[in-house]
Amino acid sequence: DAGQVSMNGYPHYMLKEIFEQPDALRNAMRGRLNDQDATAVFGGLNLTPQQLRSVERIILTGCGTSWHSALVGEYLIEELSRIPVAVEYASELRYRNPPIENNTLVFGITQSGETADTLAALNETKRKGHRSLAICNVVGSSIAQASDGGVYLHAGPEIGVASTKAFTSQCCVLAMLALFFGRMRHMSFETGGRIIEDLRRLPSSVEQALTCDSEVRRVAQKYQDVSNVLYLGRRYNFPTALEGALKLKEISYIHAEGYPAAEMKHGPIALVDAATPSIFIMPRGTTYDKVMSNMEEVKARGGPVIAIASSDDTEIRKIADDVIMIPEVPEFLQPIVSVIPLQLLSYHIAVLRGCDVDKPRNLAKSVTVE
Ligand code: AGP
Repeated sequence: DAGQVSMNGYPHYMLKEIFEQPDALRNAMRGRLNDQDATAVFGGLNLTPQQLRSVERIILTGCGTSWHSALVGEYLIEELSRIPVAVEYASELRYRNPPIENNTLVFGITQSGETADTLAALNETKRKGHRSLAICNVVGSSIAQASDGGVYLHAGPEIGVASTKAFTSQCCVLAMLALFFGRMRHMSFETGGRIIEDLRRLPSSVEQALTCDSEVRRVAQKYQDVSNVLYLGRRYNFPTALEGALKLKEISYIHAEGYPAAEMKHGPIALVDAATPSIFIMPRGTTYDKVMSNMEEVKARGGPVIAIASSDDTEIRKIADDVIMIPEVPEFLQPIVSVIPLQLLSYHIAVLRGCDVDKPRNLAKSVTVE
């Protein structure tokens, strides 16, 4: 309930929640990283080691932003644990009736724990006899109660309709689950230990990323009057692109699309003109050079380009019109850091346009209708 949560001196809950992310991540990890075994520990999965070891497939389901973290989870779990993952919109999963093999584990991902479609999808998979767990923020919520077990985010109350700290906490929990399942299978002690170190450094990287706020505000002033924005990224930063676009749509009412950067040339590049900025999420990583050429294609067609780039990337300033720097983290943790400037950009643009940031039109914090 918003009435009981202080704004702590911030003008909006959304801004407060954006700045709470380093602490939210610390809380998500508290007591869950085990150095001795180089793995993660979860108290509430309610499954035996045999049951966990026999998982052959994972389904991640949710809606909106929680569906975006499911996409990040797919990349994480497949890369680190080598378990095949399917991501489903909860609203589709419940009616699509896909064949689900034995030894499939279903995770419903939800901030509120009250989203009607996510609850129905979990109940449906449970009815078919599959183990259904929740990755949830609100303790004791309907989905937390309906699931066989799960993982709480411990992010604290999220009041702003636009989800921010729940997204990064969900990604963090999914990274820990990927570590956990990986260590039960092929992942070495050394790799597990390195991942734990990377996770421990994450809150301070997010703190550092938050210092981009004034630069983001300047960029927001420059682009506040546009009607369309494209968000582009590859691999782990493709879901980040979708999430950045959703944030802008929700609170500033500007039309935005997220795409894998390479899909541009299959259609969306036709939208590029001088009035349509493209935001490239391109911290250093496997596909950096490829994204760079995608960006050059947009520039060549006269589209303004904003880059979210690694702090040591000085070259990019020569090509992009605007650059927002973020600290370098391993690729599998990049969405948690690269989403920060995108959250701030949508926030500042919405404020500059006089929008009701915490309660955007037509939207509710939890969608309890189907
Ligand atoms: C996020 O900014 C949205 N307001 C919305 O997409 C939200 O993520 C979705 O409704 C799912 O909510 P949940 O996580 O509480 O289930």
